Amino acid sequence: MKKIIAVDGPAGAGKSTISKICAARLGYTYIDTGAMYRAVALKVLQSGKDAVDVASDIQIELDEAARVFVDGRDVTNQIRTPEVSRAASDVAKIGFVRKRLTELQRQMAARGSVIMDGRDIGTQVLPNADLKIFLTASADERARRRFEELKAKGIAADIDNIREEIIARDKQDSEREIAPLAQAADAVPVDSTRMTIDEVVAEILRLAAC
Ligand code: DC
Repeated sequence: MKKIIAVDGPAGAGKSTISKICAARLGYTYIDTGAMYRAVALKVLQSGKDAVDVASDIQIELDEAARVFVDGRDVTNQIRTPEVSRAASDVAKIGFVRKRLTELQRQMAARGSVIMDGRDIGTQVLPNADLKIFLTASADERARRRFEELKAKGIAADIDNIREEIIARDKQDSEREIAPLAQAADAVPVDSTRMTIDEVVAEILRLAAC
């Protein structure tokens, strides 16, 4: 069984949904690295401090239920706003922020039996991961899924705006100089555009068992 699994891919490809289910099925710890960049971004927005200052002393904890704590405060819902999404992609460009969070992520993965998702896990954070997945879906499908998610929560949204935001964030994440979103040479690509959640989970569990 593969003990360290890295899942990378663009925004809205289903990385966290799929990784969470796979982790529960395997009895592994799920680590959402995007939530860590979001946590830094939230603290920058709320404190008005520089991202480097924030990253140097922020305390981030992720619990078993995938709740996110910043300096002991539960920010699980607060980090999911569009404003924080944009700010997270901005702080993710800063070398010092990436260095700090990469160190934390490696510490978290050191015990093994983990599924970690993000943009640079297979390429930078855990280059020796036992299994690397690069999960994608078309921009139209990712926008549709996000739209349905918001609708289910009773939040009104415009699908064209969502698509534009997703494309802009992917562009910024893929084109930044340090640790851009990229498929590792030894990653297995999985295009989930026409797959159900169950099908993607089954495929990853199959790969994890080989
Ligand atoms: O996966 P997400 O949408 O929650 O990630 C938020 C932002 O953080 C996203 O714009 C890219 C960035 N990120 C990153 O640069 N590296 C990671 N390992 C995870 C996320």
